[in-house]
Amino acid sequence: MNHFLDIHKTNPDELRAMIDQAGAMKQARLDRPKGALDDDQPLAGRMVALIFEKPSTRTRVSFDVGVRQMGGQSMVLSGSDMQLGHGETIADTARVLSRYVDMIMIRTFDEAVLMEMAEYASVPVINGLTDRTHPCQIMADILTYEEHRGSIKGKKVVWAGDGNNVCASFLHAAGQFGFDLTFTGPSQLDPEDEFIGLARKAGSKIVIERDAQKAVEGADLIVADTWISMHDSQSSKERRHNMLRGYQVNKELMSHAKPDALFMHCLPAHREEEVTSEVMDGPQSVIFDEAENRLHAQKAVMRWCLGV
Ligand code: CP
Ligand code: NVA
Repeated sequence: MNHFLDIHKTNPDELRAMIDQAGAMKQARLDRPKGALDDDQPLAGRMVALIFEKPSTRTRVSFDVGVRQMGGQSMVLSGSDMQLGHGETIADTARVLSRYVDMIMIRTFDEAVLMEMAEYASVPVINGLTDRTHPCQIMADILTYEEHRGSIKGKKVVWAGDGNNVCASFLHAAGQFGFDLTFTGPSQLDPEDEFIGLARKAGSKIVIERDAQKAVEGADLIVADTWISMHDSQSSKERRHNMLRGYQVNKELMSHAKPDALFMHCLPAHREEEVTSEVMDGPQSVIFDEAENRLHAQKAVMRWCLGV
């Protein structure tokens, strides 16, 4: 049984196999004769619980659809409607759910909740985002980059803005997939030292550059995310916007990267804040491919978890 908790906790060869399988499954669906049904049903007879303690569009729909495409069944549960939201412990919830379902995906706040769920569940647990990381997103992003530009190994990725949960999983991926990452943003919002250290230890070149224009020089990929994440207090909005304004990804900033650099954003985006519509809807943007690839990448993650 495999839990998918974080990219740096998963073996690089197995991560690579998941990306390759995701691409193959995507292609197989595209190649199906018109009107043909999914014939690959590795999750037949399996039930997956999808727990959300935070809002979601992509994670919720892509996991639900992915399970069904593979012949399984899913139930979407809201944390606040469960006893979990009314004092039942995570450990007891994990042990109870494991008696009913074959796999659990959870989106939560504190990473400790995910870890406790994994410790006490006797079925695989998948991280659907915590305040600290978002590994499923980055699996989709690696698949997306490689579909457009080939291997991400040795490429320069620039993260612009808040060194948040999605940035953390990019740092984990840098170490595991062998690419370099430059962070450009205010020092108050730097990524955690621990994550920078892990990527460096794995051999990636990790640079902190406060000047956004300098940071993007030679970039193969520029990534932005919301300036205020779901776990950030709305009262910090004005302060954060003031700190981050200089890190907006716009056409001018993109012009300092490589001419064929891609732009990514996990979505949901705040247009004209962290990124302009001109970039989001422009020729270098692959944001909707990323959203689609959540489906394909997570199908491979689920198969790996279940060993099917
Ligand atoms: N990117 C992402 O995880 O989107 P949702 O919050 O809509 O799931
Ligand atoms: N950093 C964002 C990602 C949303 C998918 C958040 O945590 O709200």
